[in-house]
Amino acid sequence: MRILLTGANGQVGRCFKQQKPEDWEMIAADSSVLDITDARAVQNMVANFEPDAIVNAAGYTNLEAAERNLDHVFAVNATGVRHLAEAAAQAGIRFIHLSSDYVFDGQKRMPYVETDYTNPLSGYAKSKLSGELLALSAYPDSIIVRSSWVFSEHGNNFVKSIAAQAESGRVAVATDKIGCPTYAGDLVRLMVDLIQRHTPVRGIYHFCGDKAVNRFEFAQAVVKALSEVRPVNAVLEALPSERSEHTPRPPYSVLSCEKIRALGYLPSDWQTALKDVVKHIAG
Ligand SMILES: NC(=O)c1ccc[n+]([C@@H]2O[C@H](COP(=O)([O-])OP(=O)(O)OC[C@H]3O[C@@H](n4cnc5c(N)ncnc54)[C@H](OP(=O)(O)O)[C@@H]3O)[C@@H](O)[C@H]2O)c1
Repeated sequence: MRILLTGANGQVGRCFKQQKPEDWEMIAADSSVLDITDARAVQNMVANFEPDAIVNAAGYTNLEAAERNLDHVFAVNATGVRHLAEAAAQAGIRFIHLSSDYVFDGQKRMPYVETDYTNPLSGYAKSKLSGELLALSAYPDSIIVRSSWVFSEHGNNFVKSIAAQAESGRVAVATDKIGCPTYAGDLVRLMVDLIQRHTPVRGIYHFCGDKAVNRFEFAQAVVKALSEVRPVNAVLEALPSERSEHTPRPPYSVLSCEKIRALGYLPSDWQTALKDVVKHIAG
């Protein structure tokens, strides 16, 4: 199996490199190796390497900075995705792309299913929805996996930020956002399986953690896991809303995983994964 992985230095990309089956030949491209906004570079890479599948783990993911860089954000999260989908369509190979719970506005208050009405609230979220639409129109066989609150031992994420706050003695987190944390490694396990699946699937699938929490409860779980590794002397404070956030986020973004569960895939057991990730971070 020959795989082209984009966004190889991100948290999902790094987990993918670690979990890749040994007999797969893979080009793990960070943005210096393959900038997905460059259509010709994408075409050349696919024509020369002749992969059996493309996995797009690249994305512009900084929500706050995205509002100030919308042209670039859309170039990466929308047009760049189209470039990859077009190349996959031309080669007739599998294409897996990651999208986000943020395509929803959070007003439903019941787990979102794949066919639910989308209404992205921010520039980042709009670019992710555009990426989905462009991928599916360029290549209807695209597989879009929407996930949420992704964490891992790599890169920047909520778990690392809470662990750092705990060092400073005070963890202050808002209670007004509800979602499902997802371990990046579980997301990778799903993608590896979807690539090898005998009966191919297409279209949009939701995949996230098995237990919904608010951000404060997620932070409490991080601090509890940390306290099992070393003594933690931090005060936890529940805030009504996050003071440092200026970009709107959906207040409720729980994804229903029933569609992917029907294919035999269990949601991410994020509470178990969290203990290992925290051990790794604190060790
Ligand atoms: N993190 C979450 O909570 C979450 C939730 C739902 C969905 N997702 C989606 O999952 C995907 C992976 O997320 P992640 O958390 O792993 O993100 P991440 O850690 O921010 O990694 C994204 C990677 O994309 C690369 N990239 C940016 N612009 C690029 C370009 N023009 N060409 C090629 N690569 C480029 C970056 O590489 P360089 O550093 O080399 O520029 C970065 O390493 C993204 O599509 C994201 O939208 C994430």
